[in-house]
Amino acid sequence: MPKVTIDGHTIEVPDGTTILQAARMIMDKGEGNGENIAPPTMCYYSKLKTSGGYCRTCIVKVSKGSEKDPRPMPKPVASCRTNVMDGMEVQNITSPELLEARKGVVEFLLINHPLDCPICDQAGECHLQDLGYEHGLAKTRYDFKRRTFNLIDIGPYIKLHMTRCIMCFRCIKVADQLTNHRYQGMLFRGDASEISTYIEKAIDNDFSGNVIDVCPVGALTDRTFRFKSRVWFTKPMDAHRNCTKCSGKVALWLKDNEVLRVTSRKDKWGEAEEWICNECRFEKKDIKDWAIEGPRHIDRHSVISANHYESLAQLKLDIGKQQKQLNGKS
Ligand code: SF4
Ligand code: FES
Repeated sequence: MPKVTIDGHTIEVPDGTTILQAARMIMDKGEGNGENIAPPTMCYYSKLKTSGGYCRTCIVKVSKGSEKDPRPMPKPVASCRTNVMDGMEVQNITSPELLEARKGVVEFLLINHPLDCPICDQAGECHLQDLGYEHGLAKTRYDFKRRTFNLIDIGPYIKLHMTRCIMCFRCIKVADQLTNHRYQGMLFRGDASEISTYIEKAIDNDFSGNVIDVCPVGALTDRTFRFKSRVWFTKPMDAHRNCTKCSGKVALWLKDNEVLRVTSRKDKWGEAEEWICNECRFEKKDIKDWAIEGPRHIDRHSVISANHYESLAQLKLDIGKQQKQLNGKS
């Protein structure tokens, strides 16, 4: 089994493991010294075959190719598409020039983006927004006119904002892999590329709503949820129902007892744990349709966690501590 070292953390992985998967394995083992050494991903999605290789946000520096051939790789490589070799040494967050290169990738991803986060339903759970905060520039250097498109309704439940699309191909893979027929979805090439409404045909499929969950930005939005609430004002709950088409295990996004939105449950990498059907997603908006399991764990770094206190006891302890400090007792 090849051994790889990423940002100083060594792990042994099965043959055929990519650098990205190895980095995630290191994080899963609780290593990383509190830092996230797993490269960000905008197009790779472990549940979708042949995803990855489009966006270049997952680039890393390979400072040693392998034990047999220790020469460094001459330029950054896409970690989601590069397999680990025995003795390989990789730098992600420990390489300033790599971080600089990633900044360049983010700048390219944003050149046509409308930056309309204040009115975008994806705000607060948008991977591009996070990437922009972590690696983006405060100001654009782009002088040209940005691309504009009319909004497209892809069936009764999904709206496409092409202006926000970063061409990650995830929705095309969903349309392709979760339907019985191949409906290709990218038209034209280069800066003229756009997601075609051919994926409208995928709307017949019970699982087409999953394109919303895989979209890393706000390009594909749920028409039953649009503009209803900012996500951080909602209460995410795990819930399930008996469903004949999918597992019925979902996340409900509630406002009081009103079900504003139903999504798949996402894992720590932001990927759907299981695909859910359109009936669960769009048609079961009555709380009585669901058996509530309990609050969904939200990562504290996410803005969605604002106003959600998982442990009231801890909160009381913190407030008590602050009061003591204010009264001069420590
Ligand atoms: S619409 Fe979303 S999922 Fe589809 S290619 Fe664009 S960014 Fe990716
Ligand atoms: S995640 Fe690797 S190229 Fe997009």
